Amino acid sequence: MEEHDSTQPALNQLQIHVKDLQQWQGNEDFANQAEEFKALPALYRHALNDLQNKIDVIKTEWQIRDGFSPIEHIKSRIKEPKSILQKMQRKGYEFSLENMELHIHDIAGMRIVCAFVKDIYRLVDHLSVREDIRVLEIKDYIAFPKPNGYQSLHVIVAIPLVLMEGTRWVKAEIQLRTLAMDFWASMEHILYYKFDKQLPPHVAEELKEAARAADELDQKMLRLRREILELTEGDSF
Ligand code: GTP
Ligand code: MG
Repeated sequence: MEEHDSTQPALNQLQIHVKDLQQWQGNEDFANQAEEFKALPALYRHALNDLQNKIDVIKTEWQIRDGFSPIEHIKSRIKEPKSILQKMQRKGYEFSLENMELHIHDIAGMRIVCAFVKDIYRLVDHLSVREDIRVLEIKDYIAFPKPNGYQSLHVIVAIPLVLMEGTRWVKAEIQLRTLAMDFWASMEHILYYKFDKQLPPHVAEELKEAARAADELDQKMLRLRREILELTEGDSF
């Protein structure tokens, strides 16, 4: 995930350059929609800021109630226009705003890193019952890791953005992971790109082993938490 600190007024970085669009000439409809396309990142940015605020409120509530928040950190980013176009091409969609809004779920992306696996599920359970967030899809790569060992919980949500024209539900992808999963995914990302997408088999196998080690660490931390909880006679933790 290319990161932009969501607190930065990064709109200027998000403007779609006409030259990006010109690469896709030949699709006149798409070119005709260029003006609206240019305005979209701003809408996604507002929706992402709204989502960030909702998560911050949860964090504060958790802090007040339990004395600490299991959310370690949050990162947000808006997908670069070029990446959006490349992804649409890769997935075989014609370039139209409709297709983009329908099929590209991670234009607005948020990563929430939690201390414990359990808290990831607690957080998602909570998101699922809120009326101001629609959970559209959950991919549980924690219960079912990817073949390379990747673990995270991916949730596609929609956030209501109230505009003068009416309410628009804007999609966002939330990736939830533990610190151990985040460590692994960051390392894998670096190695993968360093080796130009051709990992030697023994490296891939060792990476997978590292993912298992990260998982064991998470399980161990949960066990320790349980033990501490018993010692403190059920204080919330
Ligand atoms: P994408 O085209 O990558 O979006 O695939 P998808 O729509 O099927 O989504 P998926 O849920 O598989 O993955 C979406 C995002 O999760 C990626 O853009 C990465 O940020 C992250 N991700 C998925 N798989 C891996 C992985 O094997 N390693 C790392 N480091 N990140 C991954
Ligand atoms: Mg995706």
